[in-house]
Amino acid sequence: GKSGYDHFMLKEIHEQPRALRQCLQGRVDELGGRVSLDLDLDVERVQFVACGTSYHAALYGAALFRAAGVPAQAFFAHEYAVATPPIEDDLVVGVSQSGETADTLSALREARGRGARTLAVTNVVGSTMARECDDALYIRSGPEIGVAASKTFSAQLAALNLLALHTVGAGDDDRREVIAALRDLPGDVQALLDDTDAEAVAREYVDSDGFFFIGRDKSHPVALEGALKLKEISYAHAEGFPAGELKHGTLALVTEDTPVFAVVTGDGEAARKTIGNVKEVEARGAPVVAVTDGESDVARYADHVLEVPETHARTAAVLANIQLQLVAYHVANELGRSIDKPRNLAKSVTVE
Ligand code: M6R
Repeated sequence: GKSGYDHFMLKEIHEQPRALRQCLQGRVDELGGRVSLDLDLDVERVQFVACGTSYHAALYGAALFRAAGVPAQAFFAHEYAVATPPIEDDLVVGVSQSGETADTLSALREARGRGARTLAVTNVVGSTMARECDDALYIRSGPEIGVAASKTFSAQLAALNLLALHTVGAGDDDRREVIAALRDLPGDVQALLDDTDAEAVAREYVDSDGFFFIGRDKSHPVALEGALKLKEISYAHAEGFPAGELKHGTLALVTEDTPVFAVVTGDGEAARKTIGNVKEVEARGAPVVAVTDGESDVARYADHVLEVPETHARTAAVLANIQLQLVAYHVANELGRSIDKPRNLAKSVTVE
């Protein structure tokens, strides 16, 4: 049942500390600073294939491998067959909650046909994808009933961190810091869930004309996912894109009735540039909601702040996304939508 929650989605949002703990359990050796997965992979290049929310996780995963100096790219599974780059000793990773998505299965079959080694990153043991791929990495988030992916996305991001650490390392990031941030993540998520202004923000903007989500680097997939979640459960029009794209077109749509959610974590170059974009939308009168760890001064330019606990840049993406899940949930709830079963959508899409 829903354990007292109004919707499975809200229950699953609140299950994220446990989902993450299960994902990390027995795979992270904190003292030794090591990750151990039951996978023996020699990764020279990697391609990810996925759809929807899982594609956003794939974008994030590809960035982790590139950060370690390994060429990596994420593809929409349904575009892969027509746009496949040549494969030489590549690993092709299918990211799929269900392990049954037809588009992703067919991209993986294509890859296997071309001689790639394939890996399924999935939640479902014994799924078609897990059986057909050479290897499987389970995200272990527990079953997800709501059509909108929530806890599985967070667990996918955690599992992709483990995969990258295990096979190619942390690149320029400090391995021990990443591992410590992963270890602290379930507790950080709990702290966020215990104290969030997402519902108040949702109430304030529920009747907006449209919603924009911007972020750079690891916040880019978060922006995409924030928009997708809002669209699918509230039916509001929303768009997510890399912050730098704003002034190349979408800025024309920005008005005082289109809140802009800016995901800004850390205080580096990406944060500084996104704050520049925030100023651009502010000048057009758009309300700004900053999703931030407070390391930069983005709050100065924002009408509302959704805070995330201080953590590593990698895990900040997980936390920022959870604030956006809550905003989407509360907007949809205010509008009385069918949150667990949005119109026209199915939990698992088994036709191409
Ligand atoms: O089961 P999969 O992760 O392969 O499903 C792919 C998409 O259909 C899925 O992520 C979809 O976008 C989400 N349910 C949206 O919340």
